[in-house]
Amino acid sequence: MAEKREHWGSRIGFILAASGSAVGIGNIWKYPHMAGQNGGAAFTLVYLACILIVGLSIVIAEFVIGRKTQLSPVGAFEKLAPGSSWKYVGYLGVASAFVILSFYGVVGGWIIKYIVVSITGGFNGLAGDPEVAGNVFNTFTTATWSPIIYQVLFMGFCIWVIVNGVKGGIEKWSTIMMPLIVVLLVVLAIRGITLPGGMKGISFLFNPRFEDLTASSIVLALGHSFFTVSLGMGTMMTYGSYLDKKQNLLNSALWVLFLDTAIAMLAGVAIFTTVFALGANPAEGPGLIFVVLPSVFPQLAAGTLWGTLFFVLLFMAALTSAISILEVVTAYFIDQKGWSRKKATIQFGAVITIVGMFCSFSLGGGVNITEFLGISFFDAVDYLSSKYMLPLGGMFTAVFVLKRWGIPNFIEELTSGMEDSNLSSSLIRSLLTIAAGVVAFIIFNEIYSKIVGVALIG
Ligand code: TRP
Repeated sequence: MAEKREHWGSRIGFILAASGSAVGIGNIWKYPHMAGQNGGAAFTLVYLACILIVGLSIVIAEFVIGRKTQLSPVGAFEKLAPGSSWKYVGYLGVASAFVILSFYGVVGGWIIKYIVVSITGGFNGLAGDPEVAGNVFNTFTTATWSPIIYQVLFMGFCIWVIVNGVKGGIEKWSTIMMPLIVVLLVVLAIRGITLPGGMKGISFLFNPRFEDLTASSIVLALGHSFFTVSLGMGTMMTYGSYLDKKQNLLNSALWVLFLDTAIAMLAGVAIFTTVFALGANPAEGPGLIFVVLPSVFPQLAAGTLWGTLFFVLLFMAALTSAISILEVVTAYFIDQKGWSRKKATIQFGAVITIVGMFCSFSLGGGVNITEFLGISFFDAVDYLSSKYMLPLGGMFTAVFVLKRWGIPNFIEELTSGMEDSNLSSSLIRSLLTIAAGVVAFIIFNEIYSKIVGVALIG
């Protein structure tokens, strides 16, 4: 702990690292199929409102607390509220990181597998036949050992990046990969738009269909605005703790939200133009990426190339997110336990990999340790983290600023590094209150629907 804290090398490096965390499987896989099924632009409008109100205030709260304390979540809450129970919000974050990365690592493994299948021409036999593609996907993910091999490989990449530190690992790889992600997506989007019939995909995605926007779409948009910006488990707090006082936090937060949203929409364009041009099913839902696309790419000229580029880009997006999750765990053991970065990352990276193996096994490979709950361990950890742990973490962060730390202290830290530091404290108080209230409602709605059997909304 005596060592000086490592800081980001540049402002742009920090923005790319934080948006690297935000841009992940959520943007390229979840957003397009959710928008597709929930009213296109109508869904996007709701999602934008959620991002601007709930997302923005909580990202800023996390950045501010991290930078102020120069510590990862447990230490940060302890420093600002010594001896209180607030540090448990930090522990909740570390626990969420464990849980999320265990299944994120499994999906990361699937992506590497699909790069290998694509390069070796394995999509060719799937041309125009999503059913066969679906069988291939199911056979692979429900096998016992082969998904594990790829999961271990993916986690190995994460561990390696994090062992190399904030500047030499996270910042370096985010700075390389984020621009590549944008370039590859633009290329794929242009390819899609210029295909005959591709424009139909654009109107599917961007025409507002308010009749498809139900109450449950609104709850979905809210929940997603949380997940996609990596909120609620102290990721952004940890990244903020490597900042110095010179950065403009409001401006950086706006950049992260802008890049996250723009990349999600670009992914939607790239995917739906291609899917429509080839007459595949756009409302396939979650199977869109691993089932529909592999049957669509081989129908294009140079299909192996497009397919491979797509999965490489998905891999990079997943990796820059996964490392941000692992960093929360590593930073906890460095800050609170005085461990070395290498020891913390390797030991806990290994533990998370082992927990993740049980997520994979629960899909059909044999062991399912949550069978008695009626769902697979994989679905259980996904459900627990995205419906409860992250929203609770985010809500408590906002409540902490409002009730414990206080708006004046918050504004003092936020405005350091800003030129125009005239922020209205009542505006900030209202935004944080709305954010906390909205999130509290989502959590309540979920619990209510579990107990009563119907949701209040959705
Ligand atoms: N935001 C990432 C995505 O869209 C996932 C992610 C990374 C995340 N870090 C997180 C989600 C922290 C919640 C909390 O795929």
